[in-house]
Amino acid sequence: MTETLDINITQTSKSKLPETDLQNPTFGSVYADHMFIADYAEGEWKDLRIVPYGNLSISPANTTLHYASTIFEGLKANRAENGDVLVFRADANARRMQKSAVRMCMPEVPTELFMSGMTELLKLDREWVPTAPGTALYVRPFQLAMDPYIGIRPSSTYQFLIITGPVGGYYSEPVKVKIETHYTRAAQGGTGFAKTGGNYAAALKPAVDAQKEGFNQLIWTDAKTHEYVEESGTMNLMFVINDTLVTAPTGDTILNGITRDSIIQLAKDKGMAVEERPIKVTEVLEAIENGSMQEAFGAGTAATVAPIKLIHHDGTDYNLPSVDGWKHSKEFLDTLNKIKTGQIEDPHGWIMRI
Ligand code: COI
Repeated sequence: MTETLDINITQTSKSKLPETDLQNPTFGSVYADHMFIADYAEGEWKDLRIVPYGNLSISPANTTLHYASTIFEGLKANRAENGDVLVFRADANARRMQKSAVRMCMPEVPTELFMSGMTELLKLDREWVPTAPGTALYVRPFQLAMDPYIGIRPSSTYQFLIITGPVGGYYSEPVKVKIETHYTRAAQGGTGFAKTGGNYAAALKPAVDAQKEGFNQLIWTDAKTHEYVEESGTMNLMFVINDTLVTAPTGDTILNGITRDSIIQLAKDKGMAVEERPIKVTEVLEAIENGSMQEAFGAGTAATVAPIKLIHHDGTDYNLPSVDGWKHSKEFLDTLNKIKTGQIEDPHGWIMRI
């Protein structure tokens, strides 16, 4: 770690903001003016800097390009009515990235470095935080191995970067999901809990196949039996059955979602029963059929609260009750939005003001 957190700042000479439609952003296609970079070499993080957003120069032999030595995070910054920029649970993202780093044999980014780099970047690009309902500035911290080396070993050099970009919703309408019982996302002892690129790359073909069949996403099942629902790849899964919030426990194979954790807390706050336990595919389908499944939704930073309107399994479509009547997920989304934009009290200290 560096002794001081001095960050060298080089500002862009021409902001892209005037030509950006800030209030109608699509997810993941527009980036703000600057990015944060720190280098890791000789066992320490150094050369902390903010520079104009731009391409990286890396060796064709860069080990990440060949062996996927990369981890990332995703969080959001919103604007309060008084203009302050509010960041949601960034410290939890810093901790989760450290866990991903340990699993991927990468050096951990200290929380102080993560938070300082993000704070300085957001101060500089604060005008990029959109204000329209449902929009936010998405913050993408990521870390990659930098050694120009073809061979399997931990790298001795890394970069930690943060880029940001204005976003709208990841899903624009309630989603249709297919329960996947052939392909596997993650197995015990694997990397499913880590936010590492390979998990997402390996999930692409099954997801694209499902999209061709008309589904937005998959519900992944456990690798061993395909009898238990796990997560959705872009979000954790939550069900409201008989007024109880039910979600699969996190572990080796399921990402420890920060939105998931926040919703569990909000449910407990309002006295709702919460069950974190293995959920059988048959239980989900039976609950839809017998009417005890009131709501099913995905929870994630990008997806926020994404209602599920249909679940497909083995040739049969199971329709959820009409989203219009959903009470709990709407309340979770509304409360989260209000906390994130400073409209209501933040009882759990989730917000950091920039
Ligand atoms: C996030 O929710 O922030 C993610 O990284 C998931 C990805 C689908 C954008």
